[in-house]
Amino acid sequence: MPDEHAWWQRGVVYQVYPRSFQDSNGDGVGDLPGILSRLDHLAALGVDAVWISPIYPSPMADFGYDVSDYTGIDPVFGSLDDFDRLVVAAHSRGLRVILDYVPNHSSDQHPWFVESRSSRTNQKRDWYVWRDPAPDGGPPNNWLSEFGGGAWTFDSATGQYWYHAYLPEQPDLNWRNPEVRAAMLDALRFWLDRGVDGFRVDAIHHLIEDAAFRDNPPNPDWKPGMSPARRVVRARTMDLPEVHDAVAAMRRVADGYPGDRVLIGEAYLPIDRLMAYYGADLSGFQLPFNFHLLSTPWRAREIGALVERYEAALPPGAWPNWVLGNHDRSRVASRLGPAQARVAAMLLLTLRGTPTIYQGEEIGMQDVPIPPERVQDPWERNVPGLGLGRDPVRTPMQWDAGPNAGFTRAKAEPWLPLAPDHAAVNVSAQSADPRSMLSLYRALLALRRTEPALSVGSYVPVEGVAEDVLAYERRDDATGRRLLVALNLGGQERELPRAASGRGRVLLSTCLDGGAARLRPDEGVVIGEPAAGVSSPA
Ligand code: GLC
Repeated sequence: MPDEHAWWQRGVVYQVYPRSFQDSNGDGVGDLPGILSRLDHLAALGVDAVWISPIYPSPMADFGYDVSDYTGIDPVFGSLDDFDRLVVAAHSRGLRVILDYVPNHSSDQHPWFVESRSSRTNQKRDWYVWRDPAPDGGPPNNWLSEFGGGAWTFDSATGQYWYHAYLPEQPDLNWRNPEVRAAMLDALRFWLDRGVDGFRVDAIHHLIEDAAFRDNPPNPDWKPGMSPARRVVRARTMDLPEVHDAVAAMRRVADGYPGDRVLIGEAYLPIDRLMAYYGADLSGFQLPFNFHLLSTPWRAREIGALVERYEAALPPGAWPNWVLGNHDRSRVASRLGPAQARVAAMLLLTLRGTPTIYQGEEIGMQDVPIPPERVQDPWERNVPGLGLGRDPVRTPMQWDAGPNAGFTRAKAEPWLPLAPDHAAVNVSAQSADPRSMLSLYRALLALRRTEPALSVGSYVPVEGVAEDVLAYERRDDATGRRLLVALNLGGQERELPRAASGRGRVLLSTCLDGGAARLRPDEGVVIGEPAAGVSSPA
């Protein structure tokens, strides 16, 4: 029977943070030829697509999320030829390529902003968000920057303020202006023409602001220690209804190309608000990122309730997705500890929906403490000491036990320090260890590939299990095949769920030892009848 699911429904996405994946030229910063040289790792891991964080020309005020040319490659990462070679090499291994698209803001060095800033009458003035000062000469309203401080910066030459949801070096584009839309949609076409398979769309909920520029209301729940940006509720600056027209326009561009190009939207929003990003009649993102595993307390009942709430909220025909980590959030092994990180990997790869794996999670990398003199992230520099900085999750990938973990042959230090455990925790060592985290990821991905129940089957919660056990069935409705997943989120040995009795055996345990009669502390298992002709990876 033909599989009616798109590749981005069946598949698994892997995020590469290019500065830290692999350096090929010895400058201590990762690059495109470096990624190309590591594609075999991704193929062996068993993922389907690689999403690469921004590689465009950028002054790097926010490490690529400040784009000064939407249709080029920053020399630190290589050239357009390198990019084309990477796409060919990825496709030849069956890997799709997803680029990061940053529509909310450009760099202040983008020629568009340079022009816009040059005078009030410049024809690109309205490409950005400019406002007169308040009567007292101060900023036009109380909007705040995500990265600390106000969201308005004064341009003394022209006597107006520009708006930036992030750094002053990241001025917000004015998506109410049709010329901006047209130019930004052209950037999508440029890369689609070059063969990219889709985009991860950055900070989409910030795209459009209140046309009347009203103040944001104060946030009664803000407490010292929280991000200063949360002092206000972003009612006038985030998640405005007009965003959805812009997303639908992006989608129409992607749909104009053959081969199921995918759009994945980044929006940190409550579930009910997130669902709107699928768009009316699914005219929006195929995958609005679901970040709720990042913020839900790691307890079986709460995770189970989250899954059910999310599943129930999905619009008809909408495809789910799950995220455990990315270049902005603390690593799983640091949040949950190394033992539960294995359970989390099984959760991510057995839930219904497209999973995204962040580089390094497959070897259980941890957050790396960054000494003050090596801090790079502008957020940490602006708002130090609150733990907001993202450098700890962006340290170089650990490939082997050699110098700089095989990340770079630079004599100097790489751009961020390596994790202190890199001689022991690396791809090479874990490849040789049949019980390693990497072996677990490979086994999970292999099982997911051979079991349509896991990749496209339905999700059925299993009740009546211990408080700290999360259990569910995945069912392949086409064949009736059922697999049971039982995850012990606690440190006590537990019974295997009763539904398991009489139905199969452990096909895969997070302990990678064949499984036991009971569910051990911090153990997850997939249980089922061995599939005909498939040898169990347990
Ligand atoms: C997104 C990116 C983050 C970046 C911000 C501004 O949240 O993931 O890394 O700093 O947008 O572009």
